[in-house]
Amino acid sequence: MEKFRLKNGQEVTIRFAEAKDYEAYCVFYEKLAEETVFTNQYVGRPRRSKEAFEAQLHDENIYRLIVTDKDEQIVGVCTVVVERPEHPWLNKSCDFGIMLLKAYTGQGLGKYLMKKMEDWARSQKMHRIGAQVRTKNIAAMALYLKCGFEVEGIARDAAYINGEWHNQYYISKILD
Ligand SMILES: CC(C)(COP(=O)(O)OP(=O)(O)OC[C@H]1O[C@@H](n2cnc3c(N)ncnc32)[C@H](O)[C@@H]1OP(=O)(O)O)[C@@H](O)C(=O)NCCC(=O)NCCS
Repeated sequence: MEKFRLKNGQEVTIRFAEAKDYEAYCVFYEKLAEETVFTNQYVGRPRRSKEAFEAQLHDENIYRLIVTDKDEQIVGVCTVVVERPEHPWLNKSCDFGIMLLKAYTGQGLGKYLMKKMEDWARSQKMHRIGAQVRTKNIAAMALYLKCGFEVEGIARDAAYINGEWHNQYYISKILD
């Protein structure tokens, strides 16, 4: 567990999720879905089961940090996943995701969490870390490019949101 001071002076806590965080975790994703269409959370998405949530807490191929405010409400989540740990060709590649509630963006938190995720990936001897990002997500792309990620290509019409097709960048960073 560690404390992080936002640019506006507010202090938040960064830590691993625990079983007791299940309700706050669900509420976080519900709030996020209302605030942005830049992640894959959508309004009305069924909640993940408590069992599935708890199972992920003990999965060594998932690195997940939550950010909480003074009331233990979750205001941010970042995750790195090794999708194919059993596969000898694919097990050095991982994917990440990061999401903050709007009130906590632009405060330096994203940059800090990116470093934490990259440090974990390096500690696991990962070779590649990647993600897909909506091409209209200016803030996310600014962050990822600043962190040394490169655009590999574009997935055309990868998401259909509110009557409109959206392209997504494939981005990655080679860690060696
Ligand atoms: C994308 C996101 C993770 C960025 O995190 P953040 O905490 O807002 O970013 P930071 O404050 O750490 O800023 C990091 C850098 O990105 C740049 N940046 C951030 N927001 C920006 C914006 N709206 N426009 C341009 N650049 C921006 C800043 O210049 C900053 O660089 P600096 O440190 O040199 O000043 C966050 O905004 C978020 O969670 N958004 C909603 C969900 C989402 O889009 N997730 C990503 C899905 S791929």
